Amino acid sequence: MKIDFNNMLEKNVGKHGLTEEQINKMSEKIPMVHRNMNEKKASMAWRSLPYNQKEIVADMKAQAQRINADFENFVVLGIGGSALGSKALFTGTKHLKYNEIPREKRGGVRFYVVDNVDPDGINALLDVIDVKKTCFHVITKSGNTVETMSQFMIVLAKLKEELGDNYKDNIVITTDKENGIMKKISNQYGFKTYTVPDGVGGRFSVLCPVGLLSAAVLNIDIDALLGGAAAMDEACTRENLWENPAYMYALLYCAAMESGVNISVMMPYADGLLNMAEWYAQLWAESLGKHYSNDGSEVYTGQTPVRALGVTDQHSQVQLYTEGPFDKIIAFVDVEEFNTQLKIPMVPIDVMDAAYLQGQTLGKLIASEMRATEYAVTKSGKMNMRITLSRMDAYNIGAMFFLLEMATAAAGELLEINAFDQPGVEEGKIATFALMGREGYEKKAEELNQASDKDDQFIYNV
Ligand code: PA5
Repeated sequence: MKIDFNNMLEKNVGKHGLTEEQINKMSEKIPMVHRNMNEKKASMAWRSLPYNQKEIVADMKAQAQRINADFENFVVLGIGGSALGSKALFTGTKHLKYNEIPREKRGGVRFYVVDNVDPDGINALLDVIDVKKTCFHVITKSGNTVETMSQFMIVLAKLKEELGDNYKDNIVITTDKENGIMKKISNQYGFKTYTVPDGVGGRFSVLCPVGLLSAAVLNIDIDALLGGAAAMDEACTRENLWENPAYMYALLYCAAMESGVNISVMMPYADGLLNMAEWYAQLWAESLGKHYSNDGSEVYTGQTPVRALGVTDQHSQVQLYTEGPFDKIIAFVDVEEFNTQLKIPMVPIDVMDAAYLQGQTLGKLIASEMRATEYAVTKSGKMNMRITLSRMDAYNIGAMFFLLEMATAAAGELLEINAFDQPGVEEGKIATFALMGREGYEKKAEELNQASDKDDQFIYNV
């Protein structure tokens, strides 16, 4: 994988780029970042995931074999960090119309992720799957998340209705080792259960059973996935900033934030990587969007992530990127070698101006469009960078997950905030419990009712 930061610099993008002075100033903090990353390593248990899961991986492979032999569909139920990693893994490595190709070609079950409580969305899935022939992987680290609990209850009732008492094999749980309602449920029903290790937060959990069971069921090479992460770990634990891409990523983004660059766009030039951009959006937003710093002072820090798709968004958002404000960094992600070579054929067209396309590949076209957009964005003075994957495979996807996790953790250290909590999300979770009438949340319900006075003057009923 190649990570190219050149276009973050003033010498390439002009006065809105980072100066040598800014970089040097920020780099003074790197020894502190490195020390903290080392000292906190034990509490960042996600950093050990590439190395310490031999037994669990073997167990999951066996489990996946059973699932692929006994079922037609595999459905992940979860939300946020419990779902986005599986989506990124799925589209990042598998056929883009996986569920629609014949089973012999797929080599396993159809794969779905349900990460919302839109009744139409859930109903649509239940319309196309036979629940009797479906294995549901219910993932919730806290074990209490209202969305996942509701999805689970709907599915459980349906399974009971269709299978009587013979539904135990249709459910696999991944949750905390002792806390939360889901753990109690799994104990009570005796479902096959995996654990989210302590120190592995939702958005850092893709390489534990949260994402690995999906990988196993999809016949993704887990050893390569973890091998890619381990190789990236080796680079991202180096002390020297000039050898450590995660530190450089964190440094440049944090230095840019100091100049008011508060948007981080990730724009992959591959349909299958759009979910990676979505996964990154959660990681970057939820980890770095913080009210308070470690010493309790108010900082209101963070950078708004935007996910865009090349080339599609060249015809929508890129106008803003080139001519709009200097408030964003665009991270282009490209792939050296696609799984498919598709040539634009020779066709009998009269318009000679289109003839130059004949015989060229779509791979060349998409690569040229990326280079052209990178050029235009750079020329317009906007900071950008590029991550190049040699291929979209398990190894590269594992490496990319790990690079971005390490960069996020290092950015947390530079910003002197806790990148691993999410008090802003918790507040919304508690308010939802109150609105849904959960016992013990009566005071919060009262608070919400008082806060909801709205002025009719500003409401238009049309
Ligand atoms: O990163 C996080 O911690 C969150 O996005 C969680 O993954 C999300 O809120 C779901 O939580 P849980 O896994 O506890 O159901």
